[in-house]
Amino acid sequence: RLADMRGLRQGKLNLAIVSTAQYFLPRLLGSFCDANPGIEVALMVTNRQTVLERLSRNEDDLCILGTPPEGLDVIATAIADNPLVILARHDHPLVGSRNIPPERVAREPFVLREPGSGTRLAAERFFRARGLTLPMRMELGSNEAIKQAVIGGLGLAALSRDTLALEGQTGQLKVLDVDGFPLLRQWQVAYPRGKHLSVVAQAFLDHLIAHAQQAVESGARAPAPA
Ligand code: PGA
Repeated sequence: RLADMRGLRQGKLNLAIVSTAQYFLPRLLGSFCDANPGIEVALMVTNRQTVLERLSRNEDDLCILGTPPEGLDVIATAIADNPLVILARHDHPLVGSRNIPPERVAREPFVLREPGSGTRLAAERFFRARGLTLPMRMELGSNEAIKQAVIGGLGLAALSRDTLALEGQTGQLKVLDVDGFPLLRQWQVAYPRGKHLSVVAQAFLDHLIAHAQQAVESGARAPAPA
């Protein structure tokens, strides 16, 4: 196609992504915009509930979610792994234990995301399916704030592994070996069924399908603790 040969000289790309996708999606935008410098991008970073609302109203070219959207007539494609892990501060008594039963973890206080968060939904579903409720010590609307709260000793957290992309398991944060975790989920790119994708949106969708898994893995290979 002519557009491929010249790069897509101009156009706009509107994306809505859940918060945890901020750890890999902007890097993919970087390589895409390098190849197509005329493209203007607007990126909305929010939670699952808001992305689903935007998706149902057809407000963006493409949406990125941590698991498939349910109850909406959309096309959703898995593009990369999105495992959920349980984090603790380095000196927590459960650090280093093997095959920790979920029942044991559910006796610890948790720092949880807000209602409407896909991260929170996934964690609560896992424990609810086992008849367990996570004791909430604190609710925070930001993955980074939750990591700091765990470091501050406020409790455990269930977060997407991608939230560790920048620092890996630092000296401060450790991934617990809990039975059933990492909870395997997959990043999804979605748009309303029947939507006519712009040339730019189709090109970025192809870019995501080709490169998202690698981008997520390179984040996950961040330096290990000393
Ligand atoms: P959230 O979604 O930002 O709504 O928690 C992230 C995810 O589901 O992985």
